[in-house]
Amino acid sequence: MNHQPPDVAVIGTGYVGLTTAVCLAHLGRNVVAVDIDEDKIGRLRLGEVPILEQGLDELLTEGLQNGRLRFSTSYQHAAEAPTVVLCLPTPSQSDGGLDLSYLEQAATKLSQILQTGAVVAIKSTVPIGTNQKLSKWLAREDVQVVSNPEFLREGTALSDFLYPDRIVIGAQQASAATQIADLYVGIDGPIQLTDPTSAEVIKYASNTFLAAKLSFVNELSRLCDHLGGNIEAVTEGLGSDHRIGSAFLTPGPGWGGSCFPKDTLGLAHVARMAGLKLPVVEAARTSNEIHQQYVIAEIGRIVQRPLEQARVGVWGATFKAGTDDTRDSPALEIMAELNRLGASVTVYDPAARPAEIPAETAGDPYTVCMGADLLVVLTEWPEFATVDLAKVAGTMREPLLYDTRYVIDNAKAAKAGIALVQPGRMPSTS
Ligand code: UGA
Repeated sequence: MNHQPPDVAVIGTGYVGLTTAVCLAHLGRNVVAVDIDEDKIGRLRLGEVPILEQGLDELLTEGLQNGRLRFSTSYQHAAEAPTVVLCLPTPSQSDGGLDLSYLEQAATKLSQILQTGAVVAIKSTVPIGTNQKLSKWLAREDVQVVSNPEFLREGTALSDFLYPDRIVIGAQQASAATQIADLYVGIDGPIQLTDPTSAEVIKYASNTFLAAKLSFVNELSRLCDHLGGNIEAVTEGLGSDHRIGSAFLTPGPGWGGSCFPKDTLGLAHVARMAGLKLPVVEAARTSNEIHQQYVIAEIGRIVQRPLEQARVGVWGATFKAGTDDTRDSPALEIMAELNRLGASVTVYDPAARPAEIPAETAGDPYTVCMGADLLVVLTEWPEFATVDLAKVAGTMREPLLYDTRYVIDNAKAAKAGIALVQPGRMPSTS
């Protein structure tokens, strides 16, 4: 470690912590990133990025080379900074509540060693009311706790950090809010100053609203499947109303990932604990479960033989493109269910780790099509759009393709002799 004291310490080097650390260093702050995982810290010091995240390796190298980014396993180094940003995991418990033990342990350690007047920001997604709990755990009247939720999408986390729609800072004291706002100097984005509880609610509200929007659009695609109508035209018309907006209106095999399932469950749990009913939140989750069952039923309907005799090739295992993350991926749940129903499933994904996939895997998109009765696209990797469909058709037992992500061009499929089905879209007449 060089001895220049850091401006800011980031605790936790998961995708939120690492993104925060490299971006703050890129903005000119002197950053120390702390994690108890020695192996990970060792690799990060060498510039090795543990996750697939666009642009992360460049900014990591930049920070290491110009010396503004350092890594440590010691909380003592974190305590040298006047500002500490907590990016620790808050895993779900079986009842939907969150396990805050990592935060509590960090607070206990920091309590002994933080500088007088330090500001601790919580960036992890935490239950409403955690700000106050953290203050108690820190037990330091001279230390302020601020809520500063993250809105980083995996796959675009760096650009979401550097070009945010908003930066939310929930603080009791103006001085603490200013100290956190100063971290972001150099970013051209609106800063919303509010109280800590509102900041905590904003995070849950944002993710739950987006999840509900997707549940709704997936319902519309099912409606179009049954009544006719084209989901693309429907979402174009719907999204043109500026009160609704066109973002997040692409149907899929159901929403997933490490955030929406956990946060909708977390919000429902917090409400239940407060004796409140939030039926929209509950319905967003139920609708998503119904949608995944619907996708499985559609696969059973489209394939031309009983599922227990069918070979199903799958493209995509991650919960979306641009990440190697398969946590709570709808693709995995659908594959597991197909296996359970007796289908023989083989999958290709350009980034997912095979050990995390509950099916046989192949190293290229063509192998999974060999002898297949149906090919299903479950993740929107752009490379799927450029696969040679004639070659695909040549190896399949039945040239049938169910594309839940709209990555396959209708005309190209037709030219290759493939019957293409996309949710909420009338079959092509071309
Ligand atoms: C989400 C939020 O978008 C971030 O703002 C937030 O910071 C993050 O959670 C978090 O709480 O940490 P992320 O989980 O990375 O980000 O993924 P999204 O891009 O939001 O996608 C979530 C799910 O919705 C995926 O399964 C994706 O395939 C699906 N989706 C998204 C659609 O099916 N259609 C769309 O139009 C958009």
